[in-house]
Order: sequence, then structure tokens, then C-alpha cells
Amino acid sequence: MTNREAIGTGIGKIILLGEHSVVYGKPAIAIPFSNTKVEAIIKKTNGDVTLDCVFFRGLLSNAPERILGTKTVIEKVVEDLDKELRDFHIEINSTIPYESGMGSSAAVAVATIRGLYRFFGESITNDRLIDLTNISEKIVHGNPSGIDTSVIVMETNLYYVKGKQLDPFHFKLDAYLIVAHTGSQSQTKDAVRDVRLLIEKNPKKYRPIIDELGNIAYRGKMAMEGNNPIELGNLMTRAHFLLDKLSVSNEKLNKLVDISLDNGALGAKLTGGGRGGSMIALCSTKDEAKYISNKLLDKGAKKVWVSNMGVDI
Ligand code: PMV
Repeated sequence: MTNREAIGTGIGKIILLGEHSVVYGKPAIAIPFSNTKVEAIIKKTNGDVTLDCVFFRGLLSNAPERILGTKTVIEKVVEDLDKELRDFHIEINSTIPYESGMGSSAAVAVATIRGLYRFFGESITNDRLIDLTNISEKIVHGNPSGIDTSVIVMETNLYYVKGKQLDPFHFKLDAYLIVAHTGSQSQTKDAVRDVRLLIEKNPKKYRPIIDELGNIAYRGKMAMEGNNPIELGNLMTRAHFLLDKLSVSNEKLNKLVDISLDNGALGAKLTGGGRGGSMIALCSTKDEAKYISNKLLDKGAKKVWVSNMGVDI
């Protein structure tokens, strides 16, 4: 039975270690980031399907290329459930900055799919939700590792290896995480493509960097399970250095990383696709995290979040 109104949600995610190398089958660590979220509200209407989101407002059939991923999953869900593509409106509201390395595209897809299933009075398994979200992610990212989709659907910390069984893990780390947005967007698709070109052109130089990033993620998991924030911080900073060599950092990210380290952070790095978007810094205490956050805001960060490793404080 179709409902008059239904809401679906999806939260953000933060990659702590392993972005980019995860595309090449290396492990990565990601945590859910509930400080930011997407809400998709589906309302019953009469007539053609309409959409209202940050990039577009109007008939779904006129949606621009930029939101082809979302449009495609809406059509796919309706087809899968054997419903008609008409008589509803979708409004998407999000506090996850888009194109910023925080999983916005996957969270929009997850919220929209969940909302549509609820609207049509149907339930969905996590496996099906992952498959449908990855349809959108392939359109948006080209060759996604799937890490964003998995952590956003499962809402649990993941030690993720592409194509392998999902490995949720628990840790209790006495540390605080700053997430800072540079204020500029970037296309993960371009960064992933450029890394691939670098590796193809000079595998001798760049393959070992991918291998080391994978090894860092492996050691990072042990540091987190052993409550060793100092080790994790060192690994993060080393990962940033390597990601910079892969050409996915930029001046703004390097500046925010340097400010964090100069002011006492245990470690700092870009997070997600890079080339803009967001960075993270690890701090031993909440006060230190707040102090460094203010420095970051002073020096140009557009927004900062402080959490107890992804959990609201
Ligand atoms: O920029 P985001 O949030 O989509 O994160 C991308 C992570 C990459 O490893 C760069 C790509 C991927 O598909 O894993």
C-alpha cells in the first residue's frame, strides 16, 4: 500500500585510512559520521514525478546530468517494485556537504531508496540497498570501491576490502576527531582517474605507494583496537604525505593538515577523494580538538565538526 508521506535517511561517513588504495584491493577503514545526514521526504501527488534537491527543482524527467545517479535509482526502485513512475514528489535535504569526501552521493541514494521503499510500503534488505546504491555510485564515481555505500548502509565501523565480506570492527579509542571542510568541492571521479593514470604511466614509482597505504590501513586497525591514538595519528600523517604524492591533496588541504600538526594534533590527513573537500585531525582531548578546530576556522576552514571518533559529543 502506498503511503501519503515517507522519510528515508542516510548518514555521512569518514574514511580514516585507505582512500584511493582501496580502489586497488587494499584495505581501508571508514566510520559512520552521524553529525551529518540526508533526509529524503517522499510525498504523494497527482501527476509526473517531481524532485527538489540542491542541484535541481522540477520534473524528474528534466533532471540534469549531475543528478543522473539519483534519477536512475528512483527509476530502478519503481521498476523493481512494479510501481508506476508517477504521483509522487521527492524532497532531498542534506547537512552533508556535497562533493566533499563525506559520502554525500551514497547517502543521498541510500536515503532516497529507503524513503521510496517506505512510501510504497515495502521493506528492503541491506544487501539490496547496497546493490541499488552502487548503481548510483557507479554513475557518480565511475569505478567506486564500494566503501562509502557499505559504511553508510551498515552504519558501523568497517575494515573494508573491495569484494570481500564486510568486516565490522569495534574499537574504543581515547581520542577525538576533527573533520574540517576546506570550503571547496571536488570530483572524486577525476581524482580516481588521475591516480590510475599515474600508476599506469609509472607503476614502479606509484605501486609501492598504493601498497604502503594499504599497509598503513592494516596497522591503523591494530592501533585502533589496541587503543593507541599516537600510533594511529602517525599513520594518518604518513598517509597524507603519500596521498599528496599521488596528486590528490592540494594547497588548502596541506595547509589545514599543517595547522593541525603545528598545534598539537596527533595526526592529520585529507579524507575521501581529496583535491578539496575535507580533512581530518586526531586529538588526544576534547579541549585540544576544540582549540585546533578554532585555529582551522581562523585559517580558512569553512566548517568543522568535533566528535568522539564519529560519535556525537
Ligand atoms: O570522496 P568520497 O567520499 O566519495 O570518497 C572516495 C574514496 C575513494 O577511495 C577515493 C574512492 C572509492 O571509490 O573508494
